[in-house]
Amino acid sequence: MKNLIAALLISASGLSASAQGNNYVQNYKKFDNLAMTPPMGWNSWNKFACNVDEGLIRQTADAMVSSGMRDAGYTYINIDDCWHGERDSLGFIHEDPKRFPSGMKALADYIHSKGLKMGIYSDAGSQTCGGRPGSRGFEFQDAKTYASWGIDYLKYDWCNTDGLKAEGAYKTITAALRKAGRPMVLSICEWGTDKPWAWGPEVGHLWRTTGDIYNCFDCIEDNGTWKAWGVMQILDKQEGLRKYAGPGHWNDPDMLEIGNGKLTPSEDRAHFSMWAMIAAPLIAGNDLRNMNQETKAVLNNKNVIAVNQDVLGIQGFKYAVRDSVEIWFKPLNQGKWAVAFLNRSKNVKKINFDWKAETVKDEIFKKDLNSQQQVYKLKNLWTNKASGTTKSSLTAKLPAHDILMMQLEK
Ligand code: GLA
Repeated sequence: MKNLIAALLISASGLSASAQGNNYVQNYKKFDNLAMTPPMGWNSWNKFACNVDEGLIRQTADAMVSSGMRDAGYTYINIDDCWHGERDSLGFIHEDPKRFPSGMKALADYIHSKGLKMGIYSDAGSQTCGGRPGSRGFEFQDAKTYASWGIDYLKYDWCNTDGLKAEGAYKTITAALRKAGRPMVLSICEWGTDKPWAWGPEVGHLWRTTGDIYNCFDCIEDNGTWKAWGVMQILDKQEGLRKYAGPGHWNDPDMLEIGNGKLTPSEDRAHFSMWAMIAAPLIAGNDLRNMNQETKAVLNNKNVIAVNQDVLGIQGFKYAVRDSVEIWFKPLNQGKWAVAFLNRSKNVKKINFDWKAETVKDEIFKKDLNSQQQVYKLKNLWTNKASGTTKSSLTAKLPAHDILMMQLEK
């Protein structure tokens, strides 16, 4: 009887469930065919933290073009935390009118006019890590707003999410982005707590594997309730995760600290090389408007970028550690390989690597270097010079915290 009355009431009101717009079936899967190689771009957080405004973002877009970075493959200009103003009486989010007086739509138009794409930041909880309005309860509205602004990339953080389940929360924002209809890269920033590599590949395009990077090569910054990690500490935390990465779904060991003044030139090179070797997103985190030649040369090294952007999208692996020198391999397209010798110690180290005596096999992605039978030509990716073949042993002296990175080709 009750059901009958309810049905009569609905039909009397003249609105069926579907006419009220309730027939939408959620699509919890990320947009396909995005980030088929690790995303490349810039993000404001490492250098500028909450000091973001439209002047900085426009100038950064200009600098990405004039420095040659756009032509080297960098695409995304990502505003991190603190761009937010307030929600209006209907719940729609607005940009901070003082910092972004021209509005996000105008900014996105400007970025697009430079042949670049724009990213923005929000948080699955009630507030962002910087205390700005989070998207919890406003996911569909926010996705719609970002789409109307022309946003191409969303980094979605995990502060103030008490009681939320990560997988469900990220699926909700994915469904919201789907419903809004504008293809966007979804960057899951959950710090690896709930194993995002296990559920992330269908939901987002990249997922942070750790807490925040700290601007040092080899240190831990202890903030009491949380720690931030040096470049080497972050690298160590990628252990065991390579099988989860591939085209459209990447492990994200956080943004680059290159050019931020704390790493030596060799440490900058090592940082960039290792992020390339592990198929990490290459998101610069420095002031692109004021780069010295050394920083520009590192970020624009086309050989190293090509290793990172290789179409196979295979994350490299640590093959061996010998006297504090780590030896990493990454299988590349067309039977090529990249190799990196990373000196983690504070002393100069001698390398002596007899290719014919080594058995290099990628058991997960089924690739075999076979240097016993196959002769490869070597190219040093930092000097851009041919460097002999695998017929003879490689001997070299590697300075402290430096890297030797080469490509092997038949
Ligand atoms: C978290 C993230 C960082 C950055 C800040 C912003 O710490 O992990 O990458 O986005 O929040 O507040």
